Amino acid sequence: MKKLAGLCCVAAAMVIAPVVARAQATLAATPPMGWNSWNHYHSKVDDAIVRSMADAMVSSGMRELGYTYVNIDDTWQGERDAQGVLHPNARFPDMKALADYVHSKGLKFGIYSSPGALTCDKLPGSYQFEEQDAKMYAAWGVDYVKYDLCGFRAVMKAAGSPEAAHQAMVDAYAKMHKAILATGRPMVYSLCQYGNDAVWEWGAGVGGNLWRTTQDVRDTYASMETIGFGQSGLGRFAGPGHWNDPDLLEIGNGGMNTEEYRTQMTLWSMLAAPLIATNDLSDMTPANKALLTNKDVIAIDQDPLGKEGDRVYTEGPVEVWERPLVNGATAVAIFNRHPLPLKAAIDLSKLGFGNRKARDLWAGTDLKVEKGPMKFNLLGHSVVLLRISK
Ligand code: GAL
Repeated sequence: MKKLAGLCCVAAAMVIAPVVARAQATLAATPPMGWNSWNHYHSKVDDAIVRSMADAMVSSGMRELGYTYVNIDDTWQGERDAQGVLHPNARFPDMKALADYVHSKGLKFGIYSSPGALTCDKLPGSYQFEEQDAKMYAAWGVDYVKYDLCGFRAVMKAAGSPEAAHQAMVDAYAKMHKAILATGRPMVYSLCQYGNDAVWEWGAGVGGNLWRTTQDVRDTYASMETIGFGQSGLGRFAGPGHWNDPDLLEIGNGGMNTEEYRTQMTLWSMLAAPLIATNDLSDMTPANKALLTNKDVIAIDQDPLGKEGDRVYTEGPVEVWERPLVNGATAVAIFNRHPLPLKAAIDLSKLGFGNRKARDLWAGTDLKVEKGPMKFNLLGHSVVLLRISK
């Protein structure tokens, strides 16, 4: 009988595993959208903040526009007990209840860990507890796991050679993916190892639905600009279910002006990047809220074709980026990286867009792309975003 029961479960697991693997692969058909606690709250994040961000995601209208994931980053962890159970710290008295609350708002719930023994904030990571932690996440109702390299560097160092270190890292990411699959609960799997070792070449192979391509974005134009414009050339590695992740949207955190934040929202949408806000959603200026909630711009990011855009033209600080969209439409963004305004004369017909109808998505106006140079009035550090029809 015991033997039979065992056989039944092995057979069931054989059926379930591919089903879950399929479900996992259809996750993140478009780039994930949501909120993450780190860049604004750091180690101050707690249960009340997460609840209020879920509330604000609904009351701001963001949920209806596709923002879904409410993700707790580092510093939720307390201590691991003798049975290996990792308990949340006192700021998170009941993680299951918190996940239930987020779900009750029609949203999804994300958590953070590391393949190392320690996270970046020196709290317990999942090293050698991968299956146990994944099972606990499933029991809580976790829908999204960010897995941050940090403490795993110690294991890599001990591996001896760069090749062995690389293999150890790849294996560690694959291991957590396997542990997630084994729970039977689909969870978006977010790799965070700062773009090391050309992660875009192997991230999807270890089950990543997205992978950070860079170091942390900071709330300055210089940081955002370097990261965002530096993504050129990575598009061929991304697509439905597996995305490049140039890190969080700093919109609303105060370090950039409206035009600079407009540049981030536009560039991230051209890049088919995850749109994960990291500001206080309960206290947004109308300007910042408008940037995060422009449905036409979000539609560029979420375009079902899932093709990432790239740079097609430069003229000093002026850059034109193009992104193919469904049904033969095209998004064209004309950026001004200079801090002062300038009038750029761009011949979009030479780029193949002559004689086509277009909409200026930030201005909300219609125009026609003419033959010959067109004048674009560009504010400093700003952008004009066009959706050009077929
Ligand atoms: C960094 C990571 C950040 C954040 C932080 C938490 O390594 O890139 O996004 O997760 O750790 O400690």
